[in-house]
Amino acid sequence: LDPSFLFKDLNERGGPATRPDFRLRARQTVQQTGLIEPKNGRRLTTPVWGYGDSTVSWPGQTFQVASASAGGADETTVRWDNELPNRHLLPVDENLHWAYSLHGAGSANGVDYRQYSIRKNGVPMITHLHGGNTDFQYDGNPEFFYGRQSLVTGPQWDFVDGGFTNTFRYNNDVPAGNLWYHDHTLGITRLNVYAGLAGFYFVRDEIDTGTADNPLDLPAFPYELAYAIQDRMFTDRGALFYPAFPGDPFYDDFITGQGVVLPPDLFPGGGPTALAEFFGDHMVVNGKIWPKADVEPRNYRMHLLNGCDSRFLVTQFVAVNAGATDPSSGTPVPFWVIGSDQGLGTPAQTDTLVIEPGGRYDVVVDFSQVPAGSRVILKNLGGDAPFGGAFGGDLDPDDLFPDRQTDRIMAFDVVVPLSDVPDIFDPDSLSGYGGVGPENTTRRVALFEGTDEFGRLQPLLGTVANDITGTNVATAYTWFQPPTETPTAGDTEIWEVYNFTADAHPIHLHLVNFEILDRQAFEYDITGTQTTTQHNGTTGEAAEISNIRNLTPASVGSEYFENAPKDMVTALPGDPDGAPPTGQMVRIKADFSKSGRYVWHCHILSHEDHEMMRVLQVG
Ligand code: C2O
Ligand code: CU
Repeated sequence: LDPSFLFKDLNERGGPATRPDFRLRARQTVQQTGLIEPKNGRRLTTPVWGYGDSTVSWPGQTFQVASASAGGADETTVRWDNELPNRHLLPVDENLHWAYSLHGAGSANGVDYRQYSIRKNGVPMITHLHGGNTDFQYDGNPEFFYGRQSLVTGPQWDFVDGGFTNTFRYNNDVPAGNLWYHDHTLGITRLNVYAGLAGFYFVRDEIDTGTADNPLDLPAFPYELAYAIQDRMFTDRGALFYPAFPGDPFYDDFITGQGVVLPPDLFPGGGPTALAEFFGDHMVVNGKIWPKADVEPRNYRMHLLNGCDSRFLVTQFVAVNAGATDPSSGTPVPFWVIGSDQGLGTPAQTDTLVIEPGGRYDVVVDFSQVPAGSRVILKNLGGDAPFGGAFGGDLDPDDLFPDRQTDRIMAFDVVVPLSDVPDIFDPDSLSGYGGVGPENTTRRVALFEGTDEFGRLQPLLGTVANDITGTNVATAYTWFQPPTETPTAGDTEIWEVYNFTADAHPIHLHLVNFEILDRQAFEYDITGTQTTTQHNGTTGEAAEISNIRNLTPASVGSEYFENAPKDMVTALPGDPDGAPPTGQMVRIKADFSKSGRYVWHCHILSHEDHEMMRVLQVG
């Protein structure tokens, strides 16, 4: 690895978009990620998938659109062309419920999708604008996928007036926000995103202008940067690597380690199988491994995206000596968090920030706090294991693989002389987050850790009864079962999200932004097992939950910044193995403004692909 590989920022990858109409292709390309062939020092190239127009890139082209209130068009339209190849870059587990295994009750239009294959019909794709207030047919619901040249289309298109289109309309009549777009195809989202199908979509408005002439005195480009942080693994030849077979890193931890024996006729050679989570050993920022940027000693605004499959990033900016690459002895530099997923919030200063998978944070870092010439490393304390035990548990990022260097993300060298552009930033000029209006109703939902028909760990969503103290009060569902989350359009709901698992799960709702209200710890009993219905007619298991009781307020530390419009919330765990088992419940409040078929899910992509996703039917 070349630690001095120059950081290439997103603004060099296409630049801000000014037209309201776009055509973006998803296609295979090759990129230099910074990997070096050890023997001859040659730079290796990595086959990736990207979005773009004449050239595609990972991450995809950045959108920067003016909101309608700032004089922009009401909508941006994007035609998404599927030009993906007839071979996936990564091993596909076809035993999951995925685009080309939809059948029976899982297929809304009676088509048996098992007749299709990647070889014949190409890799299916469907793009979701994460954080968008989008009409449902353009929202990237996983059953709206389409294959190469749109010849195969997902079952939900049958319920759309006018049928299939790959030209999607995005509502820009929204406040400024840190949106992103990524693939959302049923059962292979983790693989399509891993291959590179993700990019930024920023909405700017008259308050958050993104120019040097701005009412809030926020640092503006070139002092405003955007970083998509993703963890990846690579082969010695530079190809993306995703574990799926016996002997692969992680396979043993997640398959053999659970005592799971996969049926040899379905899994010849032991795979490919989906694993419970994925944690890469290289930190990649905007498609570059461990990059660095040269900065001035001044305030910079950074939009940070956690685009990892499973890894919670627990970030710090730490000051180290010039050229140092190890952040462990660095001194944390305090920084301001000014906003999150869908816009500015109530600013807070911190030295540690948790960024959940799928989450975005808007931070301001003042590099004049460190000696000129020194380096600041964006450090990660989030480990190579599920975020069990929450913050305060084992923070060692190397808990599975001691030689990993996932404790460092990128570096900033404070070596550029201060320009004469005024160094502006005044947290007092930000007015703060006002929250969501009064609610009409409360809904109770659940997170489970069950097992699938093969005995593999299977995370699930479900419902909780209104009387939480009874017997068998929480029901686990798989993706294809009829919708249970059915808000009325125009209603504002509080959701109580009960976590019965040992891990933290980053929960995402499409369509809305929400206010995170509070958290409560609780006790419950496990009174047996409930049977879950798998897409292929077999059954799996989850715990039967009874007598939820003793709810007590629980709080999180300043490393959680939640006073902002969010579309992600971290549902923290209790101790399901305790006596009695404990859990945590988090309350959010959202306004369901449009009717239609949306989804909510865990944004650990390996969970979402393995049934931790449900339809959100607003209507
Ligand atoms: Cu970023 Cu439904 O996801
Ligand atoms: Cu999850």
